[in-house]
Amino acid sequence: MGRREIFAGNWKMYKTREEAVGLVRGLLEGLKGISREVVIFPPYPYAAEIAAMCRGTVISVGMQNMHFEKEGAFTGEISPPMVKDSGCRYVLIGHSERRHVFGETDDLINKKVRAAFEFGIEPIICVGELLDERENGQTGQVLSRQIKGAFDGISAENASRSVIAYEPVWAIGTGKVATPEIADDAHREVRNLLSDLYGRGLADSTPVLYGGSVKPDNISGLYAKDNIDGVLVGGASLKADSFLEIIKVK
Ligand code: 13P
Repeated sequence: MGRREIFAGNWKMYKTREEAVGLVRGLLEGLKGISREVVIFPPYPYAAEIAAMCRGTVISVGMQNMHFEKEGAFTGEISPPMVKDSGCRYVLIGHSERRHVFGETDDLINKKVRAAFEFGIEPIICVGELLDERENGQTGQVLSRQIKGAFDGISAENASRSVIAYEPVWAIGTGKVATPEIADDAHREVRNLLSDLYGRGLADSTPVLYGGSVKPDNISGLYAKDNIDGVLVGGASLKADSFLEIIKVK
């Protein structure tokens, strides 16, 4: 399809500094001679150090979240300029844990997407339905609300620099991976929604990653699907061996 492919690892709230640095060393070693685009999302305190380690390699670094304001009295938050300053190219916006554990709304997510573009950070925008929404046949509606919400007021030029991650909430951290067919259908739906907003050309060139219990033993089937342009891996990205196996999928 000629779309950009991305293999991303979201470390969530795991790893000591020493473990984090060790994991990056292992990945860099294992990626010698590999030209795939890899992105890692370490915890905030290690991002700058890890970004420095990865400069000039196939690994880019992103933050797991950020605030939308440039600065201010927002204790515990990090700003877009801080993300940039730390050497991060990407930011995850609207991860399901942000939406469902920390109560982030579509409106807040839209503000963060706007801020990412304003400050030259590439957002990986996460969408996905809950189990009961899928069981009630509401997946399409949920994706529509999340995509329209995230892109509200975003120009086509900026939208063309975004990446989407479809992460069905019922598949995250549960070991219950979506079948390749379920994921491919949802990705097609995401692309149709982008096409409604910005036209087919943009929809067809936007990478859509799958996330939710991706492991070395289920990556092949997912990666074989036309609409799946890479993955956003949680648990299996915490060990160099398993993440490398995923990245090297044929
Ligand atoms: P798991 O791979 O652990 O299910 O996590 C997926 C995820 O949330 C990545 O952002």
